[in-house]
Amino acid sequence: MEDAIPSSKMHGLLVFSIILTIAVLARVQAAPVQIPDLSRCQLSSASAPRGPPLTLYFNCCLPIPKQPMVDFSFHTYTPTVRRVRRPAHTANAEYIAKINKAYQLMRALPDTDGRSFKAQADIHCSFCNGGYPQKGFQGDIPLQVHFSWLFLPWHRWYLYFHERILGSLIGDPSFALVYWNWDDQKTGGNQVPEMFTPANTAIYEEKRNKNIQPPVIVPLAASTPLNDSNSVKIDKNLNNMYQSVVTASTATLFMGGIVRAGDDLSNASVVNAPLGGGIENGVHNAIHFYVGDSTTQLSQDMGNFATASRDPIFYAHHSNVDRLWEVWRYNLPGGERFDHNDPDFLNAQFVFYDERGRMVRVLAKDALDSKKLGVYYQKGESDDLWINYNPPAFTSVSAVAEALASGVPYIGAAPLNGTINIGTKFSAIVKRPTEKKPSNSVEVLTIQGLETVRDEFVALLAFVNLPDAGPSTPTHTAEYLGTFNIIAATGRTKKLMTNVKYEIGDNLRRIGIQDEDEVVITLVATKSYPALTFQGFDIDYEDK
Ligand code: C2O
Repeated sequence: MEDAIPSSKMHGLLVFSIILTIAVLARVQAAPVQIPDLSRCQLSSASAPRGPPLTLYFNCCLPIPKQPMVDFSFHTYTPTVRRVRRPAHTANAEYIAKINKAYQLMRALPDTDGRSFKAQADIHCSFCNGGYPQKGFQGDIPLQVHFSWLFLPWHRWYLYFHERILGSLIGDPSFALVYWNWDDQKTGGNQVPEMFTPANTAIYEEKRNKNIQPPVIVPLAASTPLNDSNSVKIDKNLNNMYQSVVTASTATLFMGGIVRAGDDLSNASVVNAPLGGGIENGVHNAIHFYVGDSTTQLSQDMGNFATASRDPIFYAHHSNVDRLWEVWRYNLPGGERFDHNDPDFLNAQFVFYDERGRMVRVLAKDALDSKKLGVYYQKGESDDLWINYNPPAFTSVSAVAEALASGVPYIGAAPLNGTINIGTKFSAIVKRPTEKKPSNSVEVLTIQGLETVRDEFVALLAFVNLPDAGPSTPTHTAEYLGTFNIIAATGRTKKLMTNVKYEIGDNLRRIGIQDEDEVVITLVATKSYPALTFQGFDIDYEDK
């Protein structure tokens, strides 16, 4: 009979292998997102869960150029001239002719050319609707560049190369995109820019919402009705900008949260749920929602990620998102703000086509300074309106007693609450942290583990101190924390679990309830959903 391994040794072996497994897992998790294996493309899809069953399949597979892939370096792509992006509503006839010419030439390129309009649009579709599984992981974990810290750098790179291609097609190295200045509530930026509206031009797209032709003011929250009066819409727009850019002073609040290689957004848990930033969740998504044509399947083009960038207005929309990233970093009261500096953020890899049709591998960290890429923004003329917006307080005393009397429950942090159904509305009393606020931190409400179907547009409103809030409660006030919108997307990612965060300290101070131990939080769903659930509320301090 063979000698049995003594049990103490066996035990040691077991412990060792557990430690090894944990170490390996930790290593796998702590890695930046990589570019996928481009030969493993699959059909992207988007489906509508209600009404007649419908799934649209999109072939967004990217053409693979003959030339080998290159790595981006500032040396190879040294900017020779400045590209200055200006507000779309101020573009003159000469510029409009120029950009139309550029898109005409881009549209004329064969689909097999990475610089073609089709391939350019497919870059967005394939990295947002599951065109490529992540490399190096078992199973089908789609690469997704929304809902996280990847959102801003990925889209900055996307515009950078798109703009270079347009410029090279017309032989103008200073060619710059325009930005759709939708946050501008003063000089006319808040409408669909006229330059995009004449039919049969290269920058026109048929599948757009016919109800938001200029001079209709475009709401910056999908919960803001189109038929609000202009002055009401303007105040709501200013507050949406204020709440999602100005008071969102941490990288996580503004840019979004962590995503590492192998993270599966459709299969998240409360702890590692993805997190879109304020700029993405609110104002950015609202523009997609309002520009898409809701009479088409899945609100094409802008209303879903698979088709959004088939509309040239997409690039003007994202130029403004990109500009606001600059404003957020450098031009807000309180001094410079800081991007994420986690190595898995900095070293996240993406791939695009350059103006020679080559594939270029880039890193998130090389996009952090837009001037280094040669891209400048003409200063927005009315940023100060939302930067200095003073949301008026609707209430002045704590609503906790009133809420308690009407049976509103206490809800704490996950996982103690189980799964809570929001229905059309849900109110709870939430405890604030007992310790004093550390300096250089902000007070943040987290809606934990918000889960939604992924293929339907979602608009959820959050209020503080308003237990009676409903879908028509005004959102220009200090009680409004923000809207959470999700753009419909892939059918291969059936649901999405996410955490949603709002800075809340500024709101409490404005109302005058900053010394209370607990507050009432109310969530309101403004559209009807099959199921919208979450796991808990948490209020805590987060470092700037
Ligand atoms: Cu990639 Cu505005 O979305």
